Amino acid sequence: MSDLYSQAKNDRLGFWAEQARHLHWHKPFSQTLDFSKAPFASWFADGQINASYNCLDRHVLAGLGDRIALLFEGEPGDSKKYSYAELLNETKKAANALIALGVGEGDRVAIYSPLIPETIIAMLAVARIGAVHSVVFGGFSSEALKNRINDAGAKLVITADGGFRKGKAHELKVAVDEAMKDNSCPTVEKVLVIKRTNTPVVMSEHDLWWSDAISAASADHEAKGFDAEHPLFILYTSGTTGKPKGILHTTGGYLTGAAYTHKTVFDLHAEKDVYWCTADVGWITGHSYVVYGPLANGATQVIYEGTPDTPTFSRWWEIIEKYKVTIFYTAPTAIRTFMKVGKEVVARHDLSSLRILGSVGEPINPEAWHWYSKVIGGDHCEVVDTWWQTETGSIMISAIPGAFKSKPGAAQRALPGITVGIVDEAGNPVIPGSDEKASGYLTIDEPWPSMLRGVWGDPERFKETYWSKFPGKYFAGDGARYDEEGDIWILGRIDDVIKVSGHRLSTAEIESALVEHHWVAEAAVVGAKDEITEQAVVAFVILRQDEIADAPSETDIAKILKDWVVKKIGPIARPREIIVVAELPKTRSGKIMRRLLRDVAEGRPVGDVTTLADSTVMSAINAKLHEGVTD
Ligand code: PRX
Repeated sequence: MSDLYSQAKNDRLGFWAEQARHLHWHKPFSQTLDFSKAPFASWFADGQINASYNCLDRHVLAGLGDRIALLFEGEPGDSKKYSYAELLNETKKAANALIALGVGEGDRVAIYSPLIPETIIAMLAVARIGAVHSVVFGGFSSEALKNRINDAGAKLVITADGGFRKGKAHELKVAVDEAMKDNSCPTVEKVLVIKRTNTPVVMSEHDLWWSDAISAASADHEAKGFDAEHPLFILYTSGTTGKPKGILHTTGGYLTGAAYTHKTVFDLHAEKDVYWCTADVGWITGHSYVVYGPLANGATQVIYEGTPDTPTFSRWWEIIEKYKVTIFYTAPTAIRTFMKVGKEVVARHDLSSLRILGSVGEPINPEAWHWYSKVIGGDHCEVVDTWWQTETGSIMISAIPGAFKSKPGAAQRALPGITVGIVDEAGNPVIPGSDEKASGYLTIDEPWPSMLRGVWGDPERFKETYWSKFPGKYFAGDGARYDEEGDIWILGRIDDVIKVSGHRLSTAEIESALVEHHWVAEAAVVGAKDEITEQAVVAFVILRQDEIADAPSETDIAKILKDWVVKKIGPIARPREIIVVAELPKTRSGKIMRRLLRDVAEGRPVGDVTTLADSTVMSAINAKLHEGVTD
């Protein structure tokens, strides 16, 4: 592994070209990077490639058609295996079905469906024909879905009647119907519906069963190469403003990053490992480390539809035991949940097959790290804490098994080929080991193949959001520090993005959802520390006195407003608390001082209030809380 570091250090672009050449290119590239239009980068631009071919055909042609690609475990207990040959066959049929529906190169296809094999087949079929998928997590509400469909201008929606979650059928088609009501998604021509839960659905003129479309389609489909910079997918994520951003990834560079990091960070030996990443495909982790990375590497992997507690908290451990999983990748929130449940549940299972454990999505506190390593890993596994983002496309900072000893709580070092730094407010580099306060803003200092290529439909927003704070550097939005050995510790977001159970939410987005309710005059949302979910949503609202004349009690108001946020965004954004206040703390220039609200939400004494326009506001909020009227 130390070879990779020195190779990348000596010839960074040569290193990336070599990683890219591990993939199959329909037309080889001669140029590695063009950054002349910075911050817009082109990687491997004169080459042509097909992502689906790399994930499927290539392995089958190499004689690995019988290797298991997917070990699917449904929540109710059903299971199904797909070999690479079977997955290819299904994907070819799906590609032909999409073509028959008029989907072509560059068309956007929204996918709103559970973690079942058909969803992966749908993604690979869309990619195969050069269309662009936009997967929307099934936990988003119909309204959030509608906004994403319309922003992407999707021509087709692929959904399911429902998916199983917590022992129940979670309806999805109904949400699509709701989103499309009154022609509110004018670009959508057809909706393909996968049957999963057998929940009754209304099929209208533009609806078509997935199974009918597939069975009518031929299994012959030759994948052609697309330009390396051809768009592969859009994935919406929350930023600092109210409107989610469509993060755009293109084909050659993204696939290079996903495949290289998946193999390197998890020390993958595809011929013998059984890999399992618990992420949903609605998030970037599901794109890079359930679909593109593992399949491009010919891995055998488990996918599980449901939640870890259904029917009992043993579920995940039963799955690891059943399939003899060797590599396991999950989020700290899940680990902390299991810590609370207790190690006895885990101890009932044989997890000795595990050898690598990964963590992603939020900082992992050393206590959770040790528990993960000891109770799940039986003290014999390597633990890798992987830092990256929707925008980076693949892992940027992580330990590499065997390269050096991993350190509890630290993300550690940039991967070979990736150049990161920490700078102070003025953009000056923070020097590792300079003193114990070696902290600042985390930046990525040179372009990398799987970097986002832009924000869908908004090139200015791309420049402004990521490249303007420290010119010439990508600013990730996270704070970080070096320890005395030069290892990187991630300190969390420094902007108004919060992380709840690893899900990325924008305080501004929740605030705008709240003020859309006719009772709410103003809202301020903060992320308050939470033992399990890392952060929790706490909202402070000022009510419109004229609108609430005959409104219910404050407790009922809080409940109604929480449900309102669920309707507007989805259950992941549901506030833990809604606190009705008369005023919000603002500076003289009118900026809400969230820092003070966070103090209140976390039960700390309120910090310095001297910059407030009205310094009595905080005492009023405190007095209110002590009355005990929160929710
Ligand atoms: O704050 C960082 C946190 O998650 C953010 C990115 O969120 P998202 O785009 O949803 O992608 C999550 C999965 C890659 C980052 O800005 N984050 C992610 N991984 C870590 C992390 N924080 C600390 N340690 C990590 N390993």
